[in-house]
Order: sequence, then structure tokens, then C-alpha cells
Amino acid sequence: MIPSPYSPGAVPHYLAGRSRELEAIRERLARTKQLGRAGGPLLAFYGSRGLGKTSLLRRAQSDAEDAGFLTVWATGRDDVDFAPELARWLSTELRKASFGGRAKSLLGRLDKVALEVGVPGAKLGAEVSAHRHSAVIEESLAAAATLARAHDRNGLAVFVDEFQEARLADRRSLLIALQHFNGAVDGCPVAIICAGLPSMLTAVPDAATFGERTDFNQVDLLGEVAVAEALRIPAEAVAVTWTDEAILAAIAAARGYPQHVQLLGDGAWAHARPLPGSTILPEHVRHGVESAARRLHTLYMSRLAKLTPTQKNFVSAMAHATPTGTGPVSEEPVSRSSIAAYLGVAPTSGAVGAARQQLLERGLIESPEFGKLQFTLPGFAAWVRENLDPSELSTGND
Ligand SMILES: Nc1ncnc2c1ncn2[C@@H]1O[C@H](COP(=O)(O)OP(=O)(O)O)[C@@H](O)[C@H]1O
Ligand SMILES: [Mg+2]
Repeated sequence: MIPSPYSPGAVPHYLAGRSRELEAIRERLARTKQLGRAGGPLLAFYGSRGLGKTSLLRRAQSDAEDAGFLTVWATGRDDVDFAPELARWLSTELRKASFGGRAKSLLGRLDKVALEVGVPGAKLGAEVSAHRHSAVIEESLAAAATLARAHDRNGLAVFVDEFQEARLADRRSLLIALQHFNGAVDGCPVAIICAGLPSMLTAVPDAATFGERTDFNQVDLLGEVAVAEALRIPAEAVAVTWTDEAILAAIAAARGYPQHVQLLGDGAWAHARPLPGSTILPEHVRHGVESAARRLHTLYMSRLAKLTPTQKNFVSAMAHATPTGTGPVSEEPVSRSSIAAYLGVAPTSGAVGAARQQLLERGLIESPEFGKLQFTLPGFAAWVRENLDPSELSTGND
């Protein structure tokens, strides 16, 4: 049996149906290269979990490297300072880029910065330290970009995943730095491309008013052709074919959701145990769909198991108040007032507010717009409606 060419939970071997998004990134990088400066506002991709944002960004990063950019990958977190992390990531990339002795003094500076601003005990006042961090972020990016540009690269491409998770001050610093790079006459060829949950639509403008100019792009469900390609192309690379019937069954089951495509492809493969020249048939897809559903069930269960009865109450109310759509991701945001109404409490209820806050912090729900809430896992609302046992709910005494 050939090992499965599908990758549930990892970057796919073949990124299907994202040519528009990749083109937007390519265009931004081409401008950065040509102008020798940032070449536009923040370029941002948003969507629910499992829609393929990280995969898109990873592919764009490798394209950017092929296009002659020094690249750096960052992940937004609210529990670490961005500035020292960025200095470390940049220094790793610069070492890999083999600029040799030419990078030596910058590397020295970055290492110093990582130590200096990264030490929690460093006794700077909160305000001074925010300023210092902001300056460090801007200077580190500018210096790396300038060095790259001076040595056979076009500039620096920065990829920030989970942007909405980064601290407010760090989001702000990145936006301000980019603003400066856009205006710089003598050139700071830095492009910043980020991805995150739909709450990015508020997390960006909250950080800086001019963040409103961000070029926001929604990462959507895959179309039918893309689903077919996502399944067929990796199989064909190892001489295995899917019949048309099998593909149609898979398209119907996956409903455009990239994570389902990989789970289902992987499950069908495990059942078919193909050799070169083998064919994937509808019966294999049936097994694939079942095993994908089992794996999602386990994932959803484990999310639910960690919640307190009060939090489960909230989740249940939210799932029942969620307008039902046709697809797994067409679950529209629910208003806080309709959740409160479902629970039979006032919208201002403290207990409800606390549960909401805890679920937001856990990343199980998010607020894509003011007063609205949404599950971050597509399909979760429908699953909760079917599977959450009422006996697990709080009786109001916990
Ligand atoms: N364009 C795509 N084509 C095929 N599979 C994809 C695509 N985008 C994502 N996937 C798959 O979907 C799953 C989730 O992708 P990921 O990039 O982690 O999503 P996100 O970052 O939005 O949560 C992974 O298993 C990945 O392999
Ligand atoms: Mg991701």
C-alpha cells in the first residue's frame, strides 16, 4: 500500500482552488519588489478554523522565497511579546539565508534586542516599554529588509498567522511599521501578509484606525472543481485514480470544507489500500466519510469535555440560537441577545458574560462583529445540537 498523500491537520501536498488568493499575494510582492517599499496596506486573509488559512500562507511563503524574497513566519500569541520573538525568528532566517559575514552586525543587534526587550524583569515603565517594543519591531524589519535588498533579494516578506491572537500593542506596532514602510522614500521593501479568524475584521482596526484600509480577503469554502483536484492530483502523483462516481460522492460529503476533504481522502485511502494503478471507488469514499465523521466527532467531543456545565449551557444556547444554513460553514453569527433570550436571562447577566469571556479566551467562539458570536469550528453548532446531552447542562447551581 502506498502511504496516504492526504494531510489532515497539515499543509496539503496540493493546495487546491486558491489561485486568486495566491495571485493577490504575488501582486503585492511584485509591487514591493518594484517600488522598493511596502507597496500597500496590510494584506489579510480571514476565515473559520480549518478553511486553509495556514496552508495558504505556507504556500505563499514558499512562493515568496522562490520569487527572491527573504521570508519570516510569525504566529500571533497573547502570551508572549512579539518584539523579542520577531528578533529571534529574523535572526534564524538570516542565518539560513547565507548572507555570510554581511549579516554579522545585524545578527549581533538582533540577538541583543532579543535579550534586552525579552527579559521580563527589564525595568522599563509600561509605556516606555511599549514604545521600545514598537521601535524594535520596526527597526528589526527595516534592517532585515534593507540587508536582503542589498544582497540579491527583493526584500522581506513577513507572514503572520493567527494575527487576531497577537497583543493589541503588537498588532498596533506592526501596522504602524507598515505605514512607515509604505511612506519611506528611500525604501523599506517589507510586505506583511497575515491570516486569522474573522475577528481579525475588528482586531485590525481596533489596533490602529488606519487599519481600516487593510486589504481584507475572505478564505472561502472550496468549489467543486477544487475539491476534485485536492483529491485527484495527490493521488495521480502516485498513479492512483479516483473514479468520477467516487469524486462526486466525495464532493457531496465534503461540502467544500478543506479539512473534511483531507480527512475523507485519508479515510478512503486507508480503506482502499491502493497500489500503483489502483482505483478509488464510491465504496471507499463511504468508509472515508464515516471515518472523517468519527475523527471530527472525537475532535468536537474533546473540545466539549473541557468545558464547565455553565460554559456548556452557553454553547448549547448558542448552537440552538445559531441560524441553520445549508453548508457546514454557513452558520451565521448569533447575536448575544438571542443567546440570552434562549437562556431566559437578561443580556447583561454577569454569569452569561463570564461564560462568554471564558469561551472567547479558549478560542472556541469568537466575535466577528460587535454583539455577535460565532463558533470557530465549522459544523460545531449542528454537532452540538445533535450530540450535547441535556444532562450535562448546568441546572443553574454550579
Ligand atoms: N486549498 C486546499 N486544498 C486542499 N486541502 C487544503 C487546502 N487548504 C487547507 N487544506 C487542508 O485543510 C486542513 C486545514 O487547513 P489549515 O491551513 O490548517 O486551516 P486553517 O489555518 O484555516 O485552520 C488541513 O488538513 C489542510 O491540509
Ligand atoms: Mg491555521
